[in-house]
Amino acid sequence: MLHPVVLSGGSGTRLWPLSRQDRPKQFLALMGEHSLYQETVLRALGIPDVQPPITVCSDAHRFTVGEQLQAIGVGSGGIVLEPVARNTAPAIALAALHAVATDPDAVLLVMPADHLIEDEAAFRAAVEHAVELAEKDWLVAFGITPDYAETGYGYIRRGEPLGDDGFRIERFVEKPGRATAEQYLADGGYSWNSGMFLFSARRYLEELGIHAPAILQAAQEAYAGAGADLDFIRVDAEAFAASPSDSIDYAVLEKTERAAVVPVSCGWSDIGSWSSLWSVAERDEADNRTEGDVIAVDTRGSFVRAAEHRLVATVGVDDLVIIDTPDATLVARKDRVQDVKAVVDRLKADG
Ligand code: GDD
Ligand code: MG
Repeated sequence: MLHPVVLSGGSGTRLWPLSRQDRPKQFLALMGEHSLYQETVLRALGIPDVQPPITVCSDAHRFTVGEQLQAIGVGSGGIVLEPVARNTAPAIALAALHAVATDPDAVLLVMPADHLIEDEAAFRAAVEHAVELAEKDWLVAFGITPDYAETGYGYIRRGEPLGDDGFRIERFVEKPGRATAEQYLADGGYSWNSGMFLFSARRYLEELGIHAPAILQAAQEAYAGAGADLDFIRVDAEAFAASPSDSIDYAVLEKTERAAVVPVSCGWSDIGSWSSLWSVAERDEADNRTEGDVIAVDTRGSFVRAAEHRLVATVGVDDLVIIDTPDATLVARKDRVQDVKAVVDRLKADG
């Protein structure tokens, strides 16, 4: 059976000051009524014959997750709580162990909680193709056609075709440098790794055992020592903390022989920064996205968001991001928003 796994452990620092430690970006309604997390859960439930979704998140966010599921009337397949963050390879290992505990043949659809997908029908069709490959023991990554040389993504080189809709992964390169990314873009044989995956839980655990045995062992011990209350699964904190911290990309995908890619064109975007949020939103004729009470005079290409009960006015500026909240305001050049993280680092250092 197909079990969606929603990874919801990110801290979303690049969306400060809206995204905060206690309420990171995936729990915010950034694009309408629902949060990115809720959108992800609803998208998963649109797939025929899926089981209730398994969420893996920080212990600190358990009530937010519980409330947000309840608000959309969704029953949970379990909320696995991480006492500390150890990146995606261990997080997915916990989900896999949880799934096989009740369904030894579980197939996992791993979805990060901070993506947008415009064409859900295209996504569902890709999932269907991926399920066929997972049944043949492939670990499938969903691939996106790149349109610029992004250095924050993984790149997948397509190899021999596996049926009509997938390919063996010839090479997987996580976050190449600028020159390499440009070369891959020009080459044409590469997809971006979307960060969404589909594979049999059992097969994932086997591959982890081969390529990252310390992660598998820590996850197994942490899950074996887990206690459950309501929907929450609290894994053993000490055992989980002993896991190396690594992503599925580095720990498994770069190394395994069994990786496949299913290319999908579904209007995918990763809501990683203010500029990505600006680029996916509706904008006015001057290419501005404005939210709340905003007066933009002779302003172009900007994202201006006013806090409740406040007016923000701009005159004669281009390509800025201005995010006003009751206790903090961000003003940044749109091409520098990746560095918003530095503000959060400074805040942490200053205590
Ligand atoms: N539960 C949990 N625990 N979730 C986590 C953890 C963790 O420790 N670490 C990360 N996640 C979640 C994040 O919330 C995010 O939704 C997703 O896993 C991916 O993590 P990122 O930290 O955002 O990864 P990335 O952006 O550096 O790179 C990944 O995503 C790209 C596409 O967006 C890689 O898979 C790249 O290859 C890929 O191109
Ligand atoms: Mg990301």
